This record gives sequence, C-alpha cells and structure tokens, in this order.
Amino acid sequence: MRNLILTGFMGTGKSTVGKILAERLVFRYCDLDAQIVAETGLTINEIFSRYGEEHFRSLETDRIRSLANSVGFVVSTGGGAVIAAINRRLLHEAGIVINLTASTGAILDRLRGECERPLFQRNRSPEALAAMLAEREPFYADADLRIDTTGKTVEDVVAEILRFIEGR
Ligand code: S3P
Repeated sequence: MRNLILTGFMGTGKSTVGKILAERLVFRYCDLDAQIVAETGLTINEIFSRYGEEHFRSLETDRIRSLANSVGFVVSTGGGAVIAAINRRLLHEAGIVINLTASTGAILDRLRGECERPLFQRNRSPEALAAMLAEREPFYADADLRIDTTGKTVEDVVAEILRFIEGR
C-alpha cells in the first residue's frame, strides 16, 4: 500500500481517525487543508472569501497531484476533494481510498460551534446539509471501503480500517 487516503464529508472524522491511523501504521500524517493553509498563509475562510471556491478547488487539485510522488502517508482530504473526477482518479492512483460517513445528525453534532468551514456556515440547516450530502454521495461512494462512523469511537473506526488493510 503506497498511501492511505481518507475521504468524507466535513465532520466524519477524517483528521481524528487519520492521525491515529498514521501512528498505528507508522506512516506520516498529512492533512491537505492544513497544507493549503500553510502554503498560502491564509485560512480556508480567507481563501473562499477573497478568491472564491473555484480557486480553493484548484489549490486542492495541486495538492492532490503532488501526492503522486508520496509514499507512506495517511492523507486526510477536504470534504469536497472528491467532487472533481480528476481528483478522484489521482487519489485512487495515490493509494487505498477509504470513505468515512456519518448521519446528518452526527455531522451537525460534531460541527457545533464550527466557524472555519465556509460551506458549512452556508448550509448548516439539516435540510441543506442533507442536500449537500445527497449531491456528493456518488463521489464519496467511489472508494475502496466505506465506514459509517455514526455512534462509533475513533478506536472502532481505526480497528475496522486496519482489519481491512490486513485482509487485502
Ligand atoms: C470542504 C470541506 C473542508 C474544507 C473546505 C471545503 C467541503 O474540509 O476543505 O472548507 O467542500 O466539504 P473538511 O472536510 O476537512 O472540513
């Protein structure tokens, strides 16, 4: 396995699970959003408000492209990273793609008090969130494994992923 890539909607646990998984696998951990923030010196909110979502998406694709040269990483992607077909192809080429899911209720619970996710600020009603999830569902479904994290501990999810990798 070259790398392990975590995809999923905001609040599905990609970063929390990713960090622990990296420790267990003795892989390095990489968060694509954090890389974009470090490289631009801007917060995600600032990138969206100054330059728009399309610009953010192109930075995201640049980061995903650079994964082609990486080995031994657990990578957390931003929630919208799977929307572009090119990104999905690059992610599959870079490693095993694992999609984390959660119920709308769990996502709302986990993102309570959240203010660094511009698309969540605009869509924080259960209806708007459910619509976004439905729209993205086919893109999240394009994964080697999907895990519903609702009601599970981080340890449960990490153990499920490790079992899947060992069984391959
Ligand atoms: C986004 C999710 C965010 C971040 C940006 C856009 C999305 O990442 O990339 O705010 O489109 O769902 P997280 O899923 O890590 O919150």
